[in-house]
Amino acid sequence: MISPIYWHPYVYELAMRLLYRARYRERIQAVAALIPEGARVADVCAGDCSLYRYGLRDKSVTYTAYDRNPVFVRWARRRGMAMERLDLWDQEIPAADCVVMMGSLYQFIPRHTGILDKLIRAARRRVIVNEPVMNLAQSPHAWIRRAAWLLSDAGRESSRHRFTEGELRSLLESRGFCSLALIAGGRDLVAVRDRDREGRLPAANPRERRQKSGPDALR
Ligand SMILES: C[S@@+](CC[C@H](N)C(=O)[O-])C[C@H]1O[C@@H](n2cnc3c(N)ncnc32)[C@H](O)[C@@H]1O
Repeated sequence: MISPIYWHPYVYELAMRLLYRARYRERIQAVAALIPEGARVADVCAGDCSLYRYGLRDKSVTYTAYDRNPVFVRWARRRGMAMERLDLWDQEIPAADCVVMMGSLYQFIPRHTGILDKLIRAARRRVIVNEPVMNLAQSPHAWIRRAAWLLSDAGRESSRHRFTEGELRSLLESRGFCSLALIAGGRDLVAVRDRDREGRLPAANPRERRQKSGPDALR
């Protein structure tokens, strides 16, 4: 059953504010800072479009949000934001310079690598993935775990597994992401994957790339 937090964007935003507290905007702005000026941005699984509302509104980018939740799409459009209905299980993402996915990859476990490849195919220049690695769904307390699973259920094929930092790092490195950093007090991991000037993809072997961590890794 779809969680009540997906019933309306304001309910979703409230849940995210309670979860991230003082780090709420920091998380969004850390991702927004990685988006180049002038880029066409595809925000996939955009939810309440918080990336645009709190990170990109004053930046010169062309933003399009994608999500399968029709309530979120109608709400965003009424407020003048470009948002399209798209189900990532079945559809390809329209090409964009910069493809972003925040806090959503876990929903596609165990078929998340196929989804990651969709993001990579759609990105002309850069893919940014931001994902929580500290999750209430991994709490040692069974009742907290259960509440977190129920609240994060976005519908179809929802998995109970959540990425640990180690799992996410290995996955992203195996797909050619080379700048990885913890943000929002260590709650999220953000990673970037760029094509080179000729549009080629980087080598997938992590040993061929310089691996850094911490906020400086993303500059
Ligand atoms: C946890 S929210 C993340 C929202 C936002 N990116 C953020 O970081 O706050 C996950 C979003 O993914 C959307 N979603 C779930 N499955 C999807 C699918 N198959 N295709 C497109 N969107 C999907 C949900 O509707 C929800 O808005």
